[in-house]
Amino acid sequence: MKKIIVTGGQGFIGSNLVEFLLEKNYFVINIDKSSYSANPYNVKDFKKDKKYIFYKLDINNKNKFLKIIKKHKPDGIFNLAAETHVDRSIDSPYAFLKTNIMGVFNILESLRSFSKINKKVIKLVHLSTDEVYGDIPKHQNVNENYNYNPSSPYSASKAAADQLLKAYFRTYSSKIVIANACNNYGPRQLPEKFIPKIIFNILKNKSIPLYGKGTNVREWIYVRDNCEALLKIFLKGKIGKNYNIGTGKRVKNLEIVKNIFNIAKKNKIKFSNKNKFKYVKDRPGHDERYAVNSSRIRKELKWRQKTSLTEGLNKTFKWYVTNKKFFKLVSKKNINKRFGLKI
Ligand SMILES: NC(=O)c1ccc[n+]([C@@H]2O[C@H](COP(=O)([O-])OP(=O)(O)OC[C@H]3O[C@@H](n4cnc5c(N)ncnc54)[C@H](O)[C@@H]3O)[C@@H](O)[C@H]2O)c1
Repeated sequence: MKKIIVTGGQGFIGSNLVEFLLEKNYFVINIDKSSYSANPYNVKDFKKDKKYIFYKLDINNKNKFLKIIKKHKPDGIFNLAAETHVDRSIDSPYAFLKTNIMGVFNILESLRSFSKINKKVIKLVHLSTDEVYGDIPKHQNVNENYNYNPSSPYSASKAAADQLLKAYFRTYSSKIVIANACNNYGPRQLPEKFIPKIIFNILKNKSIPLYGKGTNVREWIYVRDNCEALLKIFLKGKIGKNYNIGTGKRVKNLEIVKNIFNIAKKNKIKFSNKNKFKYVKDRPGHDERYAVNSSRIRKELKWRQKTSLTEGLNKTFKWYVTNKKFFKLVSKKNINKRFGLKI
């Protein structure tokens, strides 16, 4: 049985990836520092699984991280631990630099130390973002050779980590692969992010905050499809390469909100028609549009997304309606004026 470390496995994509890998019969070691964005609800079903272990640990703790690697000798590491909220990165960038850059450095150094004493090859799949490419002009999409041009401290920290990973590949032949994914949505995402926030506010009959005019365009992928892409990258992805993960489905934020309103209506959720939207002051440096060209992963690794946006949004809405306890277990640390929820 193959052993995999997932970092950030109590968060949104991480917990979906842990679930997916357990289903595929991997032994999964989850390393997470249980920050405000982790939710115990996300991992409640794994605890009974004998193929699952959890370590509460900061990826910046190199000694303990290396100890875990030496003990378990995993076949692969998926690094998903990160500070992830762009607005928080604008308010306080330091934590982003510490985890998203120094944390990656620590993982790379741990693997380098391990490779000196052990012949086993551990492949590191690092989850990065399409935001590293910056604002993409209308009618264009960008492949893996496009220049990095990040706009926020969050995307800059992710871009810096990608560069470090590539340098370690060049210099030390570190066994790394980078996945640049578009916006994920689905079950277990913290409601400070766009889609779960819309659903949460509909369920609470509160208006939906929209940046600017709601015209920003994002490319969307259902989280399970992203997890399948990550596994393909682990199994077949070429060491030292980047793979964009995208669907080609690019939609204005306002359209997403309208789609979810319709789903709520169909599900007979009562939601006041008054003050549906609350337009809020735009985020500084807000990118207008993201759009990736994902033909590399499609051609080389034969990956395809399975879930359409309509199907994915319906599934996502249903999940939040039937898992209301998820909202109750959102960390209290997340409740503050600027980002918080009133539960
Ligand atoms: N959500 C998206 O749309 C998206 C798109 C592209 C890439 N990504 C990337 O995917 C990864 C996961 O994103 P997410 O949306 O699931 O984030 P999330 O905020 O839901 O989860 C992040 C997890 O990492 C943990 N963590 C944070 N700092 C840590 C540290 N120093 N040590 C150990 N654990 C730590 C948190 O406790 C949390 O459980 C991130 O690297 C993010 O940049 C996300």
